[in-house]
Amino acid sequence: VAIAFLFLEPSTRTKASFWLAAKELDIDVFDVASSAMEKGESIEDTLRTLETLGFDAVVMRVPWNDTIWAARRVGVEIPIIDAGSGVNSHPTQALADIRVMERFKLVGKPVAFLGDAENSRVYHSLKKHLDIHRVFDDVDEALEWGAKVLYCLRPQKERGYKTQGKHYPYVERKHVIGTGVYIMHAGPYTGVEFDPQLRTHLRVLMDQQVRAGVEVRKEILSPWSSG
Ligand code: CP
Repeated sequence: VAIAFLFLEPSTRTKASFWLAAKELDIDVFDVASSAMEKGESIEDTLRTLETLGFDAVVMRVPWNDTIWAARRVGVEIPIIDAGSGVNSHPTQALADIRVMERFKLVGKPVAFLGDAENSRVYHSLKKHLDIHRVFDDVDEALEWGAKVLYCLRPQKERGYKTQGKHYPYVERKHVIGTGVYIMHAGPYTGVEFDPQLRTHLRVLMDQQVRAGVEVRKEILSPWSSG
């Protein structure tokens, strides 16, 4: 069994955790680190080529929203695992986040998203699974609303978000210490979302989110396991 990685945008967590998951399942991985798309090939033809070569599936991250449907429309059938598409979807991150929320008994509790929700695939995927959620630009307002989770979103500069001259919601120690609120962040953390001293606080769940990412990706790849 062999799967291809096609990451047309940078990734540390998602790519590395899919790779670790594949390794644990004895699945061979070929990383299409530099693709012929740089010579003008379309994404649909790239996927068709990987299918023709005999790969069993593709783990794909792309800057566009509708790539999987576009490939299906032209008859490409290879299984595609969405590792992040445009601003619309990051389903494996949402699954990892829900798993962490389950572990910390946060399912059904109010979740306040802070920052650049508009450009965030993490936000657009996760919100579909949440009962009570809202986007805030101000941390105090989010806490007054009754947030049990402050879900920090990074400014998506690669999608045109401009921080200069703008207030960006910044979680301070006073918002966390003694309040009982949890902080989530899918990463990468860029330094403007919360006080770096909070990074290792027990109610800052970033590392749990990373670990849960390997678990859910292993479950997603398990049908291709030869073991
Ligand atoms: N959360 C997330 O998608 O991180 P990476 O971009 O590092 O994969």
